[in-house]
This record gives sequence, C-alpha cells and structure tokens, in this order.
Amino acid sequence: MNGQPLLEVENLRIDLAAGDTRFAAVQDVSFTINRGETMGLVGESGCGKSITALALIGLLRHPLMIGGGTIRFDGREIQKLPASEMRGLRGNRIAMIFQEPMTALNPLSPVGRQIAEMFVLHKGASWREAENLAVEALASVRVPAPERRVKDYPHQLSGGMRQRVMIAIALACGPDLLLADEPTTALDVTVQAEILDLIRELSAAKGTAVLMISHDLGLIANMCRRVGVMYAGKLVEERAAEDVFRSPSHPYTGGLVASLPLLGARARHGRQRLREISGVVPPVSAFPKGCRFNPRCHASTDRCRAEDPVVTALPDGGFVRCHYHE
Ligand SMILES: Nc1ncnc2c1ncn2[C@@H]1O[C@H](COP(=O)(O)OP(=O)(O)OP(=O)(O)O)[C@@H](O)[C@H]1O
Ligand SMILES: [Mg+2]
Repeated sequence: MNGQPLLEVENLRIDLAAGDTRFAAVQDVSFTINRGETMGLVGESGCGKSITALALIGLLRHPLMIGGGTIRFDGREIQKLPASEMRGLRGNRIAMIFQEPMTALNPLSPVGRQIAEMFVLHKGASWREAENLAVEALASVRVPAPERRVKDYPHQLSGGMRQRVMIAIALACGPDLLLADEPTTALDVTVQAEILDLIRELSAAKGTAVLMISHDLGLIANMCRRVGVMYAGKLVEERAAEDVFRSPSHPYTGGLVASLPLLGARARHGRQRLREISGVVPPVSAFPKGCRFNPRCHASTDRCRAEDPVVTALPDGGFVRCHYHE
C-alpha cells in the first residue's frame, strides 16, 4: 500500500450553464481522502454536496459540467477521462449510494439482476455466476431470505430494504471509494442506525474509503474522523470531526453546530454564544459578492461584503475560509 492519498481534489469548479452565462456552482474545492478513511461533507440543502460527488464519479450532466481543477484518483487524473474509461471505474473502483434510491434503481428489473450486472460488467462473471454472487451480496447487507429477494422488483421492497440493495450494488465490486450521498435520509431512525452500522462495518472490512455526505451534523460526527463543511459551493472549513464540534472556526459551522439539540446546548452555555442561522442558501445565480456567507453572518463587516476570504491553515491541521475565524 502506498502513502499517496486515494483521492486528491484540487480547486474543483463545477459550472452551471444558463443560456450564454455560466455560474460556478462549486468553486475552489480542494480535499483529499486516504485509503480506508471516512470523510464527511456537510452543509445545508443546495450547498453543492451532491454535484461534487457526481463530479467525482463522472456523472455530471448538462447544464452542469466540470469547469476547472483536477480530480486525482489513485494517482491518475480522471476529470477528463473518456466516457468509456470512466465507465470502467464507475461502479467498480468508485461507487455511489445515491440520494434517491427509487431513481437510482431500475423499476423494471429484479434487484438481483441489477446486482448481478455489476459482476458481469466489471468482473467478467457469467450471468449464472453473477446471480449466485448477487444472492451473497444481498446476504452481506443482511437482507433476509436473499435467494427469494433477488427476484423482487424495487417497488416490492421497503425503503430500508431498497437502501440495502443500493449498498449491495455499490459494494459489489469492492470499490476503493464509496460516495454515500445522504444514504439514510428517507429512512426512520432505527433503520437509519442499522444502515449506517452496515456501511461502517462493510467499509472497515474491505478497507473502502468513504465520502459520507449529509446535512445531518450528528450523523457525520458519528461516522467520520474528518469533516468538510460546504457553504454555497465552497468548502468553508475542514477539520478533524471532534475539533469541528468542540470549537467550530467558521461562523457557518458554528451555526450548524448550534442548531444541533445536544451540541448546541453545550455551545450556548459556553463562552462563545452561537446563534442559529437565519435565511437560506442563495441560488447559484445569486451568490453574494465577498464572503458568500456574509448576508447571513452575525459577525460580517464591510471587508466581508467586499472581499472573498482565502483559506487559512489552522494549527490543528485543518483550514477555514473566514476573515475573522475563531
Ligand atoms: N441539474 C441541475 N440543473 C440546475 N441546477 C442544479 C442541478 N443540480 C443541482 N443544481 C443546483 O446546484 C446547487 C447544488 O446542488 P446540490 O444538489 O449539489 O446540493 P446539495 O448540497 O446536495 O443539497 P441537498 O442537501 O438538498 O441534497 C443547487 O443550487 C442546485 O439548485
Ligand atoms: Mg444532495
């Protein structure tokens, strides 16, 4: 095993085309993920988490496109790979659990066949071998009676079972990197915990690196060692998870932490009184001048309204993008 990170994203920019104009929906996004590591990506709805993941797996489609930067996977730049080569990586070495299971699964095909397809496509298995492997894959995500369930269509399964099928498809080929985009949002709390345990267990067993995407800071805190916080298309803070929660550096992160019932209570009783964030993430076409968070920030100044902050390295190894970070 070499010491080079598995994934190195540098200054990623994602453009959104609108007529003759292009808006940068994601900009200056840089982060790395090591082999076997689980990194979190948090931020409110519309911050650019999903499109960042789609860029990593080569699934951005018009009107979205990569506008600049590099994505290095296992030492190789993949942001400009021809579609045929990207198909060889996707589902095989980089896999994704999609935010919407019903749109990601084919409603017209039995789930066993959809899992088997991965083995045929990427591992050169025959259909007969692949169908046996699909039963094993369903068993590994603890679907009861997998030999019967392989014949089911997605609509015959509960939300939790569909999510397990998605995980089975994603992990079928033993990917090096799993992009888990809100893998449990649609599920009730007990199923949610089971699914997260499953992802944690399977990724640990196979040494799979995970990018865990969620707007739920509590979930990220439980699953990840490192966390990137995204706001309006930019990473505003990246730290070790415990540092983010104990001493958020960016006012946006502070607001997110304060809105968590337990952590928030602690923060409110601490010295730095944190306020919850009012307002919403602006659309891509209306990102404000200066710091993108300034209209919602309780501490913004003229400088914040004029000048977009650059990244400052923190002594703990993380970074923050704020003129007046804590
Ligand atoms: N196909 C598309 N066409 C136009 N705009 C899009 C498209 N997909 C995403 N966007 C815009 O890009 C921005 C980022 O979207 P994205 O889906 O990445 O957000 P997100 O952080 O994943 O949010 P959520 O938590 O709701 O999943 C949003 O402003 C969104 O409206
Ligand atoms: Mg999303």
